[in-house]
Amino acid sequence: MIGKLNHVAIAVPDLEAASACYRETLGAKVSDPLAQPDHGVTVAFIELPNTKIELLHPLGEGSPIANFLEKNPSGGIHHVCYEVEDILAARDRLKSEGARVLGDGEPKIGAHGKPVLFLHPKDFLGTLVELEQV
Ligand code: CO
Repeated sequence: MIGKLNHVAIAVPDLEAASACYRETLGAKVSDPLAQPDHGVTVAFIELPNTKIELLHPLGEGSPIANFLEKNPSGGIHHVCYEVEDILAARDRLKSEGARVLGDGEPKIGAHGKPVLFLHPKDFLGTLVELEQV
């Protein structure tokens, strides 16, 4: 059911330092920071030949990554995002197998302008999973 790895998201306490790490130490192409107030994060996108990395930094009050950074002050992998062809069909199949969909269970428009859903990390090996319809 799941397709390509769309991105790995890494929550970081210092977006400038994290961007420099990927740009200078790892030699990757890193975008300018992009504020996404609807999602409570500022993001820097890193394009790799086969996938993307997203550096996430909290933006505003009640950012969805604030708790994560409190528990992981030096940062860490926040979620992985897999592509699906039909997000509603994927959701219904996962729910029928007992997986929990976060929020109200309805897809939201994600960071790339496409419908996304998040799946409970306790159902997926301790990893927050995002599904994005492509
Ligand atoms: Co994501």
